[in-house]
Amino acid sequence: MSKQPVYEQPWPLDPSKSAYWYHTMRFPDGEVIQGSWDIPGFSQYIGGYDLKGKTLLDVGTASGYLAFNAELAGAEVTGLDAATTKEFRHFPYKETLSYQDIAASQAAWTESNLDPIKRSWWYSWHKYNSKAKCVYAPHQELYEWPAEMFDVVQAGAIIEHLSDPVYSVGAWARLAREAVLLPWTEAVPVDDLRMIPITPLDDHRMMYVWWHLSRGLWIKLFDNLGFDVHFAKAHASMQDENGVYVQNHRPSIIAIRRGTNAARTFDASTLTSPWPEAPAAPAPEPSPAPAQRRKGLLSRLRDR
Ligand SMILES: C[S@@+](CC[C@H](N)C(=O)[O-])C[C@H]1O[C@@H](n2cnc3c(N)ncnc32)[C@H](O)[C@@H]1O
Repeated sequence: MSKQPVYEQPWPLDPSKSAYWYHTMRFPDGEVIQGSWDIPGFSQYIGGYDLKGKTLLDVGTASGYLAFNAELAGAEVTGLDAATTKEFRHFPYKETLSYQDIAASQAAWTESNLDPIKRSWWYSWHKYNSKAKCVYAPHQELYEWPAEMFDVVQAGAIIEHLSDPVYSVGAWARLAREAVLLPWTEAVPVDDLRMIPITPLDDHRMMYVWWHLSRGLWIKLFDNLGFDVHFAKAHASMQDENGVYVQNHRPSIIAIRRGTNAARTFDASTLTSPWPEAPAAPAPEPSPAPAQRRKGLLSRLRDR
């Protein structure tokens, strides 16, 4: 017996409460709120995937840039975020609060991260006069929802935060009738099956990131689930430690269920490859820890 999602009652618009803006948002009334990430165009971020008339689940919806732009692109949207910070797992280091005192760490992340990010989503929902629904639930619960209940499941920039990304990918694929979109998701450009640490594991302040999967592993995982995978180059800017936006690019992964109309009509020939044309290289060593951001809440929480 499958279980239905429990939708959140809309939160009131309350600008007096602090919000954490993960995304820069440009609202229809002209208001602009700067966030940690500025995404220059939604369509390029999802490989030009056509969302018109589709139902869509936006996993890890944060401040809602992807959710509300999907709605503007014609999708009927449901946002999903963690119900509680018990779902957040940190790489264990002896120096971190999440290793030493999990309850205190979860309380700090609830107050400084998850609740304020949820408030930013609901602020955006009001500003867009959105019809989107929202669910707060752990990824494991998604296995209990009806299979293929959304046309598209979209999960941007979240894989890196999951200790067990493969299990979550399974849950998302099961729910997606035609496509799983993973915008801004690294794929190490090798064709064997690898999952490697994102950092050299010598900086406890980077405890909130886990693994990069190889291109070959992405293809194999989705092949087992009945999907073909395409990779596109996506662009976004991140605020650096001085509050300046620095342009960057990463792969977006477009996985399409075989035998669907989307599999027949999606034109992968228009995609720009995220990698330079070169023979497959050996798996690189984990890159040095990314530069620290000045404004992001995550950087303030790193030592906790
Ligand atoms: C880096 S933001 C990505 C925001 C947006 N999806 C995008 O692509 O721009 C990560 C989002 O995933 C959620 N998240 C992070 N770790 C999570 C976990 N372990 N389980 C569930 N959600 C998580 C956060 O609350 C946040 O909304």
